[in-house]
Amino acid sequence: MAQQVRGVVAPGKDEPVRVETIVVPDPGPGEAVVQIQACGVCHTDLHYKQGGISDEFPFLLGHEAAGVVESVGDGVTDVAPGDFVVLNWRAVCGRCRACLRGRPWYCFDTHNAEQRMTLTDGTELSPALGIGAFAEKTLVAAGQCTKVNPAVSAQVAGLLGCGVMAGIGAAINTGNVGRGDTVAVIGCGGVGDAAIAGANLAGAAKIIAVDIDDRKLDKARTMGATHTVNSREADPVETIRELTGGFGADVVIEAVGRPETYKQAFYARDLAGTVVLVGVPTPEMKLELPLLDVFGRGGALKSSWYGDCLPSRDFPMLIDLHLQGRLDLEAFVTETIELTDVEKAFERMHEGDVLRSVVVL
Ligand SMILES: NC(=O)c1ccc[n+]([C@@H]2O[C@H](COP(=O)([O-])OP(=O)(O)OC[C@H]3O[C@@H](n4cnc5c(N)ncnc54)[C@H](O)[C@@H]3O)[C@@H](O)[C@H]2O)c1
Ligand SMILES: [Zn+2]
Ligand SMILES: [Zn+2]
Repeated sequence: MAQQVRGVVAPGKDEPVRVETIVVPDPGPGEAVVQIQACGVCHTDLHYKQGGISDEFPFLLGHEAAGVVESVGDGVTDVAPGDFVVLNWRAVCGRCRACLRGRPWYCFDTHNAEQRMTLTDGTELSPALGIGAFAEKTLVAAGQCTKVNPAVSAQVAGLLGCGVMAGIGAAINTGNVGRGDTVAVIGCGGVGDAAIAGANLAGAAKIIAVDIDDRKLDKARTMGATHTVNSREADPVETIRELTGGFGADVVIEAVGRPETYKQAFYARDLAGTVVLVGVPTPEMKLELPLLDVFGRGGALKSSWYGDCLPSRDFPMLIDLHLQGRLDLEAFVTETIELTDVEKAFERMHEGDVLRSVVVL
């Protein structure tokens, strides 16, 4: 029997979001219904509302979530009702050329639930990032659920479902930061701060945080930055070089998603160093660089999709590190709010004084 629950819907481009009644079907083969306990408000939810991601309105927003599996469909063996899980964007297929080569984090054929959730009049909803978790319950592919230690609070666990995992993974998976490395992070929002925390976890010797907002830099210090640069006041490339013996950082992580900050990252790394682009650019952006510099400086220019994470490997590990007191995930939660407050949370996001507002259900 389909169930009716409350959920936050973006009805049309730039229209305010509304709490609506959502119809959640029973899980079909390979699907699961999850009772959501907490879901963070991410910039991507705002992009959906603004029509910046697709025009498949109405959207059911929310995608950084944790909760308890309520029911599963036929053939689901990895999770069972009662399991405490963190949701991820896409279930991997296990059969594509990336999966078969043992690189499931690149899976080229990921999937979400096949059935659609709807409004009570039957209008189909597009769940944000295939999740849709600003809702009391949501329907996902079972492979989007990763079981983690239930001792952690849901508001903290859910963060791993998107921005915090993207940032930590940009440092530890994509950038492969190692003990003693020098690291610079450009852009210290939720993703950049998570990259700082990840670099710290990996044993970086120096972590240089760059932002244009001093409040963000103060916060970055509490996340593990050893040095900060306000790039409105000082040239970030010069300053990063000065702080690294004149050479540049081993790994520079770009967490803004703009050509000018990418160029800073490119020139602020040491010879043979690594640039990681985790910030997401928009379609009209172009990058111009002397090809000779790309060749002559060597090293690696990488993009980081979702922190190159493998949820089944990374979510439980990071939760365990958090529970041991080695990774402060609480620090990312600025406030907890209700389903009815999502529109207000978008406004606060704009003002720049929030790392994460988390809806608690
Ligand atoms: N690759 C992925 O899988 C993935 C996942 C989630 C988010 N993201 C992307 O990561 C980026 C950051 O996300 P967020 O949630 O941290 O956003 P955010 O808005 O919270 O943070 C952006 C930060 O960049 C700073 N900034 C802006 N312009 C700057 C400049 N010119 N120089 C230095 N700093 C500047 C801002 O002050 C802010 O602190 C976004 O592009 C987002 O879409 C990527
Ligand atoms: Zn997100
Ligand atoms: Zn695959």
